[in-house]
Amino acid sequence: MTSTRQKVLAVVGTRPNFMKVAPVLAELDARPQAFETVLVHTGQHYDPVMSEIFFEQLGIAPPAHMLEVGAGSHAVQTGRVMERLEPVLMSEQPDVVLIPGDVNSTLAAALVAAKLGIPLGHIEAGLRSFDRSMPEEINRLVADRLSDLLFTHSPEAEDHLLAEGAGREAIHYVGNTMIDTLMAMRARIDAAQAAHGHGLQAGEYLLVTLHRPALVDGPQLGEAVAGLERISRELPVVFPAHPRTRKAMETLGLRPDRERVRLLDPLSYLDFLSLLSDAAGVLTDSGGIQEEATFLSVPCFTLRENTERPVTISLGTNTLLGLDPGRIVEVPDLIVAGRDGETTVPTLWDGEASARIADVLESDWSCADPRAAQVRA
Ligand code: UD1
Repeated sequence: MTSTRQKVLAVVGTRPNFMKVAPVLAELDARPQAFETVLVHTGQHYDPVMSEIFFEQLGIAPPAHMLEVGAGSHAVQTGRVMERLEPVLMSEQPDVVLIPGDVNSTLAAALVAAKLGIPLGHIEAGLRSFDRSMPEEINRLVADRLSDLLFTHSPEAEDHLLAEGAGREAIHYVGNTMIDTLMAMRARIDAAQAAHGHGLQAGEYLLVTLHRPALVDGPQLGEAVAGLERISRELPVVFPAHPRTRKAMETLGLRPDRERVRLLDPLSYLDFLSLLSDAAGVLTDSGGIQEEATFLSVPCFTLRENTERPVTISLGTNTLLGLDPGRIVEVPDLIVAGRDGETTVPTLWDGEASARIADVLESDWSCADPRAAQVRA
């Protein structure tokens, strides 16, 4: 494996995964004697504000292949990625396919690569919410089961993978590639001064993101907006809304008072991270934001019953509120109450995760699945 140049093909499709893959591609491209990289964008996220702007800001080269799958039911979206990715993998013949995260594009790419016998590496392996009503949990379970290389970023991930029967040799505790991106972009994030641009005072507003079906597609969305309007009297609220959330609000006729709850379009990476780093707190149902808030020591309140990222609670700044919008009114007091609490950045969230992934790929790694090893040989 060390003597030949490997072709590494990465598959991305959604906003949260551009940040997870960008530093890995940069690291591999910095070792041209060892790697050739190919990027495939499934097009699961297709609005420029959800996709293109991230490529620009993160300095990711345009994808070699655009699959343009767009929106659809889970089966339709997954099926379209599979149908369109299979011929790409057959013609590119990569040595390894890298998939980040837990979205439908991740699941689809895992299935296609595994069926073609191509070794598969999962970035952010082993996270579990133990809640199969979340589509992402099913995607995680399948992606991990099919992966030969399991790149983890928190200690409990290894325990989950071992408990599910993964081979110890397949698991590599490398750290958090999303934090690699944050650290690499830190100076530009700090320079962006997005709070100022939105007429907000640093440390004196609540940033909000809500997009999960469990919240947005049910009656809780109206309750959440009402809760935000109430707390906005003491803490200004800024809410860059995901397209899914925006559509649901329109359908339900929810129009929060503009002066009090600032509803924005989705923000670029730099603007969002700048707003996050200067926020008094963040209310979210996202996975990645729980991690970014922990890294930035910003109090995070997660409007979900569970999290697949418990390290953000045990070490970091995260508080699980449950799927109960009634608790939103507690957030200002919780921010004050938690002000002097100690938090820690988890081990290996240090900006070097991508280098560790590249080191693993450069080493003489072997496939856990003997069938895949045969195909490679
Ligand atoms: C997906 C991921 C979720 C991730 C989220 C981040 C799955 C199962 N879910 O959820 O894990 O946290 O991305 O954003 O893969 N839409 C647009 N423009 C876009 C993208 C989506 O208008 O650029 C609309 C779609 O038409 C659809 C809705 O938003 O109506 C949902 O999009 P979809 O990709 O299915 O799921 P997300 O909710 O974004």
